[in-house]
Amino acid sequence: MTKLTFGALTILTVIANAPAAMAQDVAAGKTSFNKCLACHAIGEGAKNKVGPELNGLNGRKSGTAEGYSYSDANKNSGITWDEAVFKEYIKDPKAKIPGTKMAFAGIKNETEINNLWAYVSQFDKDGKIKQ
Ligand code: HEC
Repeated sequence: MTKLTFGALTILTVIANAPAAMAQDVAAGKTSFNKCLACHAIGEGAKNKVGPELNGLNGRKSGTAEGYSYSDANKNSGITWDEAVFKEYIKDPKAKIPGTKMAFAGIKNETEINNLWAYVSQFDKDGKIKQ
């Protein structure tokens, strides 16, 4: 029952992804984020690494992590990160942002992408888990 108090957003997200995805799995998303950890930090105290920190990604404009030196391609992409854009990007980053310096082939599995978004999107800009 407590899942319901997660609010309309969770419910809408699940509906929007049906039937491709069952309920999103934050724990599985955290495991999937291990693929990103070499280059990205997230959560409280996250710092830029090879790639920018990813706190507050939902609603964040591309190329705006403070103090991170982006490629022009990323900075000028005009993207505002949200669920749909992120899911498209992470399948094939170089297709969505030609010229990006993110050296990552992408994730093709829809369930894994859904879980990854569930994990990443829970952090606010201070790296705290949103209620
Ligand atoms: C080998 C290092 C590397 C890996 C692995 C990697 N990234 Fe990146 N990522 C980068 C770099 C470098 C950039 C900056 C790209 C640029 O400036 O062109 C970036 C940029 C991004 C951005 C754009 C951020 C912004 O502020 O516009 C997102 C979102 C992102 N990565 C998500 C991920 C996720 C999620 C994963 C794991 C599934 C991942 N990345 C794996 C290096 C990496």
